[in-house]
Amino acid sequence: MSAVSFQHVSKSYKGPRGPFQALKDVSFDIEPGEFFGLLGPNGAGKTTLISILAGLSRATEGQVRVHGHDVVSDYARARRQLGVVPQELVFDPFFTVREALRIQSGYFGVKCNDDWIDELLANLGLADKANANMRQLSGGMKRRVLVAQALVHRPPVIVLDEPTAGVDVELRQTLWQFIARLNRQGHTVLLTTHYLEEAEALCHRIAMLKAGQVVALDRTSALLAGTASTMLSFKMDGELPASLDHARVTGRIVQITAHDAQEVEDILATLRIAGCKIEDLEIGRADLEDVFLEIMQADTSPSAFVTRPAGLEQVA
Ligand SMILES: Nc1ncnc2c1ncn2[C@@H]1O[C@H](COP(=O)(O)OP(=O)(O)OP(=O)(O)O)[C@@H](O)[C@H]1O
Ligand SMILES: [Mg+2]
Repeated sequence: MSAVSFQHVSKSYKGPRGPFQALKDVSFDIEPGEFFGLLGPNGAGKTTLISILAGLSRATEGQVRVHGHDVVSDYARARRQLGVVPQELVFDPFFTVREALRIQSGYFGVKCNDDWIDELLANLGLADKANANMRQLSGGMKRRVLVAQALVHRPPVIVLDEPTAGVDVELRQTLWQFIARLNRQGHTVLLTTHYLEEAEALCHRIAMLKAGQVVALDRTSALLAGTASTMLSFKMDGELPASLDHARVTGRIVQITAHDAQEVEDILATLRIAGCKIEDLEIGRADLEDVFLEIMQADTSPSAFVTRPAGLEQVA
């Protein structure tokens, strides 16, 4: 049985100019033990999908299940399987960190949870803030408390909606080590992030959302291999030839993806024929950011980059 199953999920919001469709027929499953990434630009629908999963919002159509429990008709059991770190910072200013975590444990009927709370605090770099009032914490520290709150009842499925936004580099690494350890112990993880190097390093499979639709879904390694795999980067002054207008230009630095050696040669020939003087040429492997940009810029029909099912046996 899947850990999380989205079947034909659509969501429309009432807008001033008629209904707005934030999700359109989204279907995919996440297997138990998977580390699954949900990527997409701002407004793609990631938080909307997570809100439906967490029971905070209702799908207009479709069905969502957590370990077989429907998030609407079997809400309590579905919710108990989930630990959700929300994108927005929400906190109660009247409690200390430890009180907030005890109260959260109580919501899930977990008593005498202090050992686990201490372990969470230590792993999230909050041990010395246990008795601090929530008001006294910095933004990054509040986000760490949200992560701890999501984990108090040891949920089998951990859902993280941009957990590292505003979190410093050191804690980001500590947080990922901790989440990766929970994943190795069998917890399923669903992650959204705009830090694509994090997704590349951590996720077994990735779904990409664009304007509410799944436009790519595959193992991370297959996504990296299946689209442009080579990145040419160089410096130049002046105009690029029109046929290379898909290049990414940052000041003098130009980056162009290529699928194979022939395409690399063609790009260099185009530059030579156009009389472009290039410097500091480097040819490297394309990363997830390049794949993401290629997929988002492509005139993708949904499922153009989707292969499924991808079972866990294929996961690296
Ligand atoms: N309560 C709401 N009412 C109306 N429209 C909404 C509501 N919540 C979200 N939307 C719209 O739905 C779309 C998807 O929003 P969502 O928050 O799911 O995006 P996201 O992928 O999480 O983006 P981000 O990366 O910025 O967090 C956006 O166009 C947003 O404006
Ligand atoms: Mg969001």
